[in-house]
Amino acid sequence: MKYIFPMAAVIALVLIAWIGSKIPGMQYLFGVVVPYAAIATFVIGFCYRVVQWAKSPVPFRIPTTCGQGYTLPWIKYDKLEAPVNTSQVVARMFLEIVLFRSLWRNTKAEIHDGPKLTYESSKWLWLFGILFHYSFLTIVLRHLRLFLDPVPGFVLAVEFMDSILQIGAPTMYLTDVTIVLGLLLLFGRRLVNRQVKYISLANDYFPLFLIFGIAVSGILMRFYIRTDVDIISIKRLAVGLATFQPAILTDISSIFYIHLFLVSTLLAYFPYSKLMHMGGVFLSPTRNLPNNSRMVRHINPWNPDIRPHSYAGYEDEFREFMVENDIPVEKGLPENSGE
Ligand code: HEM
Repeated sequence: MKYIFPMAAVIALVLIAWIGSKIPGMQYLFGVVVPYAAIATFVIGFCYRVVQWAKSPVPFRIPTTCGQGYTLPWIKYDKLEAPVNTSQVVARMFLEIVLFRSLWRNTKAEIHDGPKLTYESSKWLWLFGILFHYSFLTIVLRHLRLFLDPVPGFVLAVEFMDSILQIGAPTMYLTDVTIVLGLLLLFGRRLVNRQVKYISLANDYFPLFLIFGIAVSGILMRFYIRTDVDIISIKRLAVGLATFQPAILTDISSIFYIHLFLVSTLLAYFPYSKLMHMGGVFLSPTRNLPNNSRMVRHINPWNPDIRPHSYAGYEDEFREFMVENDIPVEKGLPENSGE
């Protein structure tokens, strides 16, 4: 039942925007003040966390490696699993970021009669993750149409591809279906898989519900509740927000304010949540360090400055005591010492 509270929170946010935006004079708050405050929170919070991570010292090489590391030139090594130079690290990071490679390698452990422990490949999380993230990205790219005038060619191209099936009027976007499906599957996984359900917290459910609310309010706006007046006023407001000259000239349906309020909440919440994995993946030392500790001497910046002390120096320092205690020395005491 850990999802009841986050679900109630999202419903409360919808009600706040719905009722709030109907109060005369409050449209400016929901259409301008809240979005700007949310963007500022997002930018400052995001930068702060990235800077904190970047400043954290990484005294040792800690890349995760799961393949043959570089040893001798005639032994074949795994360039992606145990990268030794920058280009191999870049290749590894690229596949991680674009294809979620570590999720692809996900396994499921199960205990069977015997007792026997088995591991098998489990690709569902990868599939749901890809479905959700690429749908989200496409939708955000398409939204640039609202903020930019004239609309850039690549946004039109994305829009064209996304509505290629030409179903309905206005035409249905494929990503509207896949984002909702992806979110339902990701939520379903947390309910169906016992282990995942056990470790799921309110802050795992909240972003799922919040983004679900954003998607559903967007879909309702596009296909069911919108009027033509709305879209012109919304575009004017969006361009105004982007150019720092915001104005709300006509009434806009509450569904838009609900959509925008949920997006603002997502932006403000982002830097303080697990959603920061978006920035974190780039800064993860287990991914972005080359596994070259046998090729390059890495000096821990925390180490105190230790001056070398050779055996000869040691003997020079303690020779007298050594001789006194019959400890053999390499170099005897000077002739007239001790007199
Ligand atoms: C996290 C960011 C956002 C997400 C995930 C999102 C999601 C969606 C979705 C799924 C739709 C349904 C139709 C479509 O796919 O285009 C939609 C429609 C819409 N969204 Fe968003 N949205 C976001 C941000 C915004 C922002 C910041 C604004 C305005 C300032 C906005 C304004 C609209 C409008 C006006 C529509 C209706 C579009 C139409 O009728 O063609 N959205 N949104």
